[in-house]
Amino acid sequence: MSNGVDKNRRHFLTVATSVVGGIGVAAMAVPFFASMRPSAKARLAGAPVEVDVSKLEDGERVTLSWRGRPVQVVRRGEEAIARLSEIRDRLRDPDSERSDQPEYATNEYRSLKPEFLVMVAVCTHLGCSPQFIPDPGDAAMGSDWPGGYFCACHGSRFDLAGRVYRNVPAPTNMDIPPHRYPDDNTLIVGEDAEVA
Ligand code: FES
Repeated sequence: MSNGVDKNRRHFLTVATSVVGGIGVAAMAVPFFASMRPSAKARLAGAPVEVDVSKLEDGERVTLSWRGRPVQVVRRGEEAIARLSEIRDRLRDPDSERSDQPEYATNEYRSLKPEFLVMVAVCTHLGCSPQFIPDPGDAAMGSDWPGGYFCACHGSRFDLAGRVYRNVPAPTNMDIPPHRYPDDNTLIVGEDAEVA
Protein backbone atom coordinates (compact mmCIF):
# COMPACT_ATOMS: atom_id res chain seq x y z
CA MET A 1 0.00 0.00 0.00
CA SER A 2 1.20 3.51 -0.76
CA ASN A 3 -0.70 6.76 -0.30
CA GLY A 4 -3.83 4.73 0.18
CA VAL A 5 -3.50 3.17 -3.21
CA ASP A 6 -3.07 -0.56 -3.50
CA LYS A 7 -0.76 -0.75 -6.46
CA ASN A 8 -0.92 -4.50 -6.54
CA ARG A 9 -4.60 -4.20 -7.37
CA ARG A 10 -3.85 -1.66 -10.03
CA HIS A 11 -1.52 -4.05 -11.70
CA PHE A 12 -4.57 -5.75 -13.08
CA LEU A 13 -5.10 -2.73 -15.24
CA THR A 14 -6.76 -3.38 -18.52
CA VAL A 15 -5.01 -2.02 -21.56
CA ALA A 16 -5.37 -2.47 -25.24
CA THR A 17 -2.85 -4.48 -27.18
CA SER A 18 -2.76 -5.69 -30.71
CA VAL A 19 -0.56 -7.75 -32.92
CA VAL A 20 0.86 -5.70 -35.75
CA GLY A 21 2.54 -6.42 -39.01
CA GLY A 22 0.53 -7.81 -41.89
CA ILE A 23 -2.05 -9.75 -39.94
CA GLY A 24 -4.41 -6.96 -39.13
CA VAL A 25 -5.11 -5.35 -35.80
CA ALA A 26 -6.82 -7.33 -33.09
CA ALA A 27 -7.53 -5.03 -30.19
CA MET A 28 -8.31 -6.85 -26.99
CA ALA A 29 -8.60 -6.34 -23.29
CA VAL A 30 -5.85 -7.88 -21.21
CA PRO A 31 -6.37 -8.27 -17.48
CA PHE A 32 -2.82 -8.85 -16.18
CA PHE A 33 -1.69 -11.28 -18.85
CA ALA A 34 -2.36 -10.45 -22.46
CA SER A 35 -4.87 -12.74 -24.08
CA MET A 36 -3.48 -15.13 -26.61
CA ARG A 37 -6.68 -15.00 -28.70
CA PRO A 38 -7.13 -14.66 -31.60
CA SER A 39 -3.51 -14.26 -32.56
CA ALA A 40 -1.76 -16.94 -30.55
CA LYS A 41 0.02 -18.43 -33.53
CA ALA A 42 1.19 -15.02 -34.68
CA ARG A 43 2.50 -14.15 -31.25
CA LEU A 44 4.36 -17.40 -30.85
CA ALA A 45 5.91 -16.78 -34.26
CA GLY A 46 7.23 -13.49 -33.00
CA ALA A 47 4.79 -10.93 -34.37
CA PRO A 48 5.25 -7.53 -32.74
CA VAL A 49 2.72 -6.55 -30.07
CA GLU A 50 1.32 -3.05 -29.83
CA VAL A 51 0.48 -1.58 -26.43
CA ASP A 52 -1.39 1.62 -25.58
CA VAL A 53 0.67 3.05 -22.69
CA SER A 54 -1.30 6.27 -22.32
CA LYS A 55 -3.38 4.97 -19.38
CA LEU A 56 -0.49 3.57 -17.37
CA GLU A 57 0.18 5.55 -14.19
CA ASP A 58 3.32 5.65 -12.09
CA GLY A 59 3.99 2.31 -10.44
CA GLU A 60 1.60 0.41 -12.67
CA ARG A 61 2.49 -2.36 -15.04
CA VAL A 62 0.91 -4.47 -17.72
CA THR A 63 1.98 -7.90 -18.89
CA LEU A 64 1.75 -9.15 -22.44
CA SER A 65 3.03 -12.15 -24.29
CA TRP A 66 5.68 -11.84 -26.97
CA ARG A 67 7.21 -14.94 -28.53
CA GLY A 68 5.63 -16.92 -25.75
CA ARG A 69 7.47 -14.95 -23.09
CA PRO A 70 5.91 -12.61 -20.52
CA VAL A 71 6.92 -9.02 -21.21
CA GLN A 72 6.09 -6.44 -18.58
CA VAL A 73 5.73 -2.73 -19.18
CA VAL A 74 6.17 -0.64 -16.03
CA ARG A 75 5.70 3.10 -15.75
CA ARG A 76 8.34 4.58 -13.44
CA GLY A 77 7.76 7.90 -11.72
CA GLU A 78 10.46 10.50 -11.16
CA GLU A 79 11.41 9.16 -7.73
CA ALA A 80 11.67 5.61 -9.01
CA ILE A 81 13.90 6.81 -11.85
CA ALA A 82 16.13 8.70 -9.41
CA ARG A 83 16.54 5.62 -7.24
CA LEU A 84 18.05 3.71 -10.16
CA SER A 85 21.28 5.69 -9.81
CA GLU A 86 21.36 5.44 -6.02
CA ILE A 87 21.79 1.67 -5.77
CA ARG A 88 24.54 1.01 -8.29
CA ASP A 89 26.90 -0.42 -5.69
CA ARG A 90 24.33 -3.08 -4.75
CA LEU A 91 24.07 -4.38 -8.31
CA ARG A 92 26.09 -7.04 -10.11
CA ASP A 93 25.98 -5.46 -13.56
CA PRO A 94 24.73 -1.86 -13.14
CA ASP A 95 25.77 -0.85 -16.66
CA SER A 96 24.34 -4.00 -18.26
CA GLU A 97 27.63 -4.95 -19.84
CA ARG A 98 26.96 -8.69 -19.51
CA SER A 99 23.21 -8.66 -19.96
CA ASP A 100 20.85 -8.99 -22.91
CA GLN A 101 19.27 -5.81 -24.22
CA PRO A 102 19.26 -3.81 -27.46
CA GLU A 103 22.05 -1.31 -27.87
CA TYR A 104 19.66 1.60 -27.34
CA ALA A 105 18.67 0.13 -23.96
CA THR A 106 22.22 -0.21 -22.67
CA ASN A 107 21.79 2.59 -20.20
CA GLU A 108 20.88 3.07 -16.58
CA TYR A 109 17.15 2.83 -17.34
CA ARG A 110 17.59 -0.10 -19.72
CA SER A 111 14.97 1.39 -22.00
CA LEU A 112 14.32 3.96 -24.69
CA LYS A 113 12.32 6.18 -22.34
CA PRO A 114 13.28 6.46 -18.66
CA GLU A 115 9.63 6.40 -17.60
CA PHE A 116 8.95 2.99 -19.17
CA LEU A 117 10.60 -0.31 -18.37
CA VAL A 118 9.93 -2.93 -21.06
CA MET A 119 11.31 -6.26 -19.88
CA VAL A 120 11.05 -10.03 -20.21
CA ALA A 121 9.96 -10.85 -16.67
CA VAL A 122 11.75 -14.17 -16.34
CA CYS A 123 14.39 -14.74 -13.69
CA THR A 124 17.79 -15.35 -15.26
CA HIS A 125 18.65 -18.05 -12.73
CA LEU A 126 16.28 -20.92 -13.54
CA GLY A 127 13.39 -19.15 -15.19
CA CYS A 128 10.89 -18.51 -12.43
CA SER A 129 8.52 -15.55 -12.59
CA PRO A 130 9.72 -12.86 -10.22
CA GLN A 131 7.25 -10.94 -8.09
CA PHE A 132 6.72 -7.26 -8.87
CA ILE A 133 7.22 -5.23 -5.68
CA PRO A 134 7.36 -1.58 -6.72
CA ASP A 135 6.96 0.17 -3.38
CA PRO A 136 10.18 1.32 -1.67
CA GLY A 137 10.56 0.07 1.88
CA ASP A 138 8.09 -2.76 1.32
CA ALA A 139 7.44 -4.45 4.65
CA ALA A 140 8.47 -7.88 3.41
CA MET A 141 11.59 -6.68 1.62
CA GLY A 142 13.06 -4.31 4.19
CA SER A 143 13.47 -0.59 4.71
CA ASP A 144 16.26 -0.31 2.15
CA TRP A 145 14.20 -1.91 -0.61
CA PRO A 146 14.02 0.64 -3.46
CA GLY A 147 11.29 -1.16 -5.40
CA GLY A 148 11.85 -3.87 -7.97
CA TYR A 149 11.39 -7.59 -8.45
CA PHE A 150 11.91 -10.52 -6.11
CA CYS A 151 12.21 -14.13 -7.27
CA ALA A 152 10.88 -16.34 -4.51
CA CYS A 153 12.32 -19.53 -6.03
CA HIS A 154 15.84 -18.92 -4.73
CA GLY A 155 15.85 -15.33 -3.52
CA SER A 156 17.16 -13.27 -6.43
CA ARG A 157 16.47 -9.55 -6.36
CA PHE A 158 16.27 -7.08 -9.21
CA ASP A 159 15.72 -3.34 -9.34
CA LEU A 160 13.09 -1.49 -11.36
CA ALA A 161 15.32 -1.70 -14.43
CA GLY A 162 15.58 -5.48 -14.10
CA ARG A 163 19.18 -5.23 -12.88
CA VAL A 164 20.24 -8.06 -10.64
CA TYR A 165 21.66 -7.55 -7.16
CA ARG A 166 25.00 -8.89 -6.00
CA ASN A 167 25.14 -12.13 -4.01
CA VAL A 168 22.00 -13.72 -5.40
CA PRO A 169 21.73 -16.80 -7.67
CA ALA A 170 20.62 -15.00 -10.86
CA PRO A 171 23.72 -14.31 -12.98
CA THR A 172 22.54 -11.47 -15.21
CA ASN A 173 19.96 -8.74 -15.51
CA MET A 174 16.60 -9.72 -16.93
CA ASP A 175 16.32 -9.45 -20.72
CA ILE A 176 15.07 -6.38 -22.55
CA PRO A 177 13.22 -7.08 -25.83
CA PRO A 178 13.37 -4.90 -28.94
CA HIS A 179 10.90 -2.05 -28.65
CA ARG A 180 10.01 1.31 -30.13
CA TYR A 181 7.47 4.10 -29.81
CA PRO A 182 5.77 5.14 -33.05
CA ASP A 183 4.04 7.93 -31.11
CA ASP A 184 3.75 9.18 -27.52
CA ASN A 185 0.96 6.78 -26.58
CA THR A 186 2.02 3.65 -28.38
CA LEU A 187 4.68 1.06 -27.65
CA ILE A 188 5.56 -1.73 -30.02
CA VAL A 189 7.30 -4.72 -28.49
CA GLY A 190 9.27 -6.84 -30.95
CA GLU A 191 10.51 -4.14 -33.29
CA ASP A 192 13.75 -2.24 -32.92
CA ALA A 193 13.90 1.49 -32.58
CA GLU A 194 15.84 3.43 -35.14
CA VAL A 195 18.61 5.20 -33.30
CA ALA A 196 20.49 7.97 -35.05
S1 FES B 1 14.85 -19.04 -10.53
FE1 FES B 1 14.91 -17.05 -9.70
S2 FES B 1 16.32 -17.20 -8.09
FE2 FES B 1 16.32 -19.18 -8.94
